[in-house]
Amino acid sequence: MFKKLTLSAIAAVGLMAGATNAAVIQSEIEDFDFSFEGPFGTYDENQLQRGLKVYTNVCASCHGLKYVPIRTLADEGGVGLPVDQVRAYAAQFDIYDPELDDWRPGKPTDSFPESNDPNAPDLSLMAKARAGFSGPYGSGLNQLFKGMGGAEYIASILTGYTGKEKEEAGSILYQNTAFPGGWISMAPPLWGEDVDFDDGSSNALRDEAVDTAAFLMWAAEPKMMGRKETGFIAVLFLVLMSVLLYATNKRIWAPIKRQAKES
Ligand code: HEC
Repeated sequence: MFKKLTLSAIAAVGLMAGATNAAVIQSEIEDFDFSFEGPFGTYDENQLQRGLKVYTNVCASCHGLKYVPIRTLADEGGVGLPVDQVRAYAAQFDIYDPELDDWRPGKPTDSFPESNDPNAPDLSLMAKARAGFSGPYGSGLNQLFKGMGGAEYIASILTGYTGKEKEEAGSILYQNTAFPGGWISMAPPLWGEDVDFDDGSSNALRDEAVDTAAFLMWAAEPKMMGRKETGFIAVLFLVLMSVLLYATNKRIWAPIKRQAKES
């Protein structure tokens, strides 16, 4: 019975992995190292702050983050900005307030603005909406051990331009080794040295890309650290409970087994 169950569980996982495989099969996703990977991985506050800077100075001119409330920039286990900085950050946006029927400076309780460019997708959930890893074919092992790889996908897109362009139906497409299909309509947004970091960190293209991807991972899953903590406690509890149940089971059946042996 148990064997059958495990077999069908393995088969189900294999099927799911097979389904996601089809979508990402042509694109090349690099396995970047992120601090939040693995069961005990955590966000790196400084990295998220650097990513916020790149997002604000570069990506935000086209992309929105409309599902992310600005106040969450102060949350612990995330970007961790001091409250006064969050207030100042919010104030740089002009937000349309339907109650005032007018525009006003943003407040921490507002969300980030929507996309400016109608063709640029909202990035709030992008890191969860895209998968970076598949294979070994049909096993789902990569997803199990490395996660979905949404952050890797974003960093790979940002570093995956080959420099080739082509015009198609009046719009320019840029060759990108990570984008499924190979041609993306987003011009290369990062070139390296696009921003200066206050902490003196490298602003080479690759580092900027990784920091931005980490920030977008946080935007898509701001409670990741809490989730991992709860998961760890739950697993610990289940292990303890299994041991206790096993011992109890042994004890309950002991007299009956002894009887059976004697007779
Ligand atoms: C000039 C406007 C512009 C800027 C600046 C820009 N993007 Fe884009 N981005 C786009 C457009 C347009 C698309 C849609 C591309 C497509 O589907 O071909 C896009 C698509 C994307 C996608 C989705 C790819 C997919 O799988 O659908 C990601 C991720 C992304 N951008 C990240 C970023 C990041 C991170 C930055 C900042 C470093 C950035 N973009 C800056 C215009 C922009």
